Amino acid sequence: MSNIPRRAAFIAIEGLDRSGKTTQVATLQTRLQAEGIPVKLLKFPVDRTTAIGQMIDSYLRSQSELDDRAIHLLFSANRWELAASIEQLLAAGTTVVCDRYAFSGVAFSTAKGLSLDWCRSPDVSLPAPDLTLFLDITPEQARSRGGYGEERYEKEEMQRKVRDVFHQISSEFTAATWVTIDAGREREDVAEDVWNFVRQLTGGLSSPLERLWE
Ligand code: TMP
Repeated sequence: MSNIPRRAAFIAIEGLDRSGKTTQVATLQTRLQAEGIPVKLLKFPVDRTTAIGQMIDSYLRSQSELDDRAIHLLFSANRWELAASIEQLLAAGTTVVCDRYAFSGVAFSTAKGLSLDWCRSPDVSLPAPDLTLFLDITPEQARSRGGYGEERYEKEEMQRKVRDVFHQISSEFTAATWVTIDAGREREDVAEDVWNFVRQLTGGLSSPLERLWE
């Protein structure tokens, strides 16, 4: 018997723009609640009204310019601000679902030309998700859904590069911790896949929370 008390699962949902990520995260939250499982939804970048959040928001709307490394570090700092509360929530039995996490940080900054190793380093030792679900969509499928919005990275060439880096990152994880889901299908089918992976963790885990990229 292990002495480690059971804790809740930490789940990250990553995805390309137009992949339906926001809808899927909301559907998952509703489903967990319907099953009576305590859940906390976090979104990165977090709350765009904090000091760091405001800087990120203004950058994403192209209202300010920042060095690529500076914005990368702000995104990472934004995660570190919440690292302790993620651990507390999990220990208290609340499943944490993150809408984007460190993998977005690495994918977007690497796609801009920074080295993958450099991009990873500020996020090393963050709480590691027990499961990351990557909602994958081809640039062609994204275009057929109405193209991209107004924000800085919502351009086809950028999204193509981001997708490549996500695929590269995924190859470092086991099939149990990283799942790529074809998000080009009907939203109900995608939601069913998401649920089938998440439900396996809803009973909690007795293994300690791991640290990212350690
Ligand atoms: P959102 O569209 O999910 O609100 O994400 C905002 C944008 O920020 C999106 O284009 C991805 C980008 N991003 C980064 O560049 N680095 C990060 O660390 C995170 C979390 C998001």
